[in-house]
Order: sequence, then structure tokens, then C-alpha cells
Amino acid sequence: MNRTMKSIIFATTLVIAVMAGAVPSVAEDVEKVFKFYCAQCHGESGDGKGINVTEDFPVTPRAFNNAAEMNKLTDADLRNVIHEGGPIASKSEMMPPWGKTLSDEDIDNLVIKLRALCQCKGKQG
Ligand code: HEC
Repeated sequence: MNRTMKSIIFATTLVIAVMAGAVPSVAEDVEKVFKFYCAQCHGESGDGKGINVTEDFPVTPRAFNNAAEMNKLTDADLRNVIHEGGPIASKSEMMPPWGKTLSDEDIDNLVIKLRALCQCKGKQG
């Protein structure tokens, strides 16, 4: 393998590492994404009491700091319901689908964020 090939491979690896989220700015981004898209219902602290939530909400948004409830779900369950919306998990359509708005990477980062809020690992499997 010549030098040029080696540097191409190195550059490609770097780009993949950055895309995989191995850069510090991602943590900041996920905070922004959460505040912008989730906090109005789920609350900035993840307590399920966002400013949008009124008495005529038929269901209360999940409190992400409720470890007992959050441990009933696997990371794949979380990803799925965020991507597809409440009805995919037999939950309320008050929980919108985000798959067309957010990238898979954003959604993966949100799952990590939700696990930090519940301080739980979730159901394994
Ligand atoms: C318009 C209000 C609203 C917004 C905005 C919203 N949600 Fe929800 N979400 C809900 C409601 C209501 C539920 C509960 C549905 C139910 O229990 O039937 C829910 C449920 C969930 C669940 C499922 C929890 C469980 O126990 O199954 C997850 C995960 C979730 N939301 C993540 C998010 C994320 C991440 C965002 C931001 C990208 C977000 N939600 C934005 C209203 C909202």
C-alpha cells in the first residue's frame, strides 16, 4: 500500500469517527435537540411536565426520570417509539413520530440522553 492510499484510509477513518459521534460537540447538540423537540412535553429535566402539557392531554408524557418505568423498555424500544411515534408501541398519538425530522444519529443520542435522565440501563435484550 502506498502513502496516498494510507492517507486516504486515515482520512476516511477520521470522518467515520466524527460521524459516529466521537466529537465533543455532539453532547451539546443532543441538549439542543432535546430542548427544542422534546422538553415542551417531557419537561427540560425530563420529569414529564413540559410547558405544553395541559389538563386536556389524554395521557401524560413519560417522565424520563422514572427509572422503574424506563427500565421496562429496551434501548431498541425507545429508538422505535421516538422514530415511529406513540402508536407503534400501543401508546398515544400525542407522542409524535420523529423519524422524518431527526437523523438516526440524533435519535441514538436521545436514547443515551434518556438513559442519563433515568440513570438506568433499561431492559436488556
Ligand atoms: C406533543 C408532546 C410530545 C412531544 C413534543 C414529545 N413527546 Fe414523547 N411522549 C408524549 C406522550 C403524551 C407520551 C406518552 C404516550 C402514552 O403513554 O400513551 C410520550 C411517550 C414517549 C416515549 C415512550 C415512553 C414509554 O414508556 O413507552 C418516549 C421514549 C418518548 N416519548 C420520547 C420523546 C422524545 C425523545 C421526544 C423528542 C424528540 C418526544 N418524546 C417528544 C408526548 C410528547
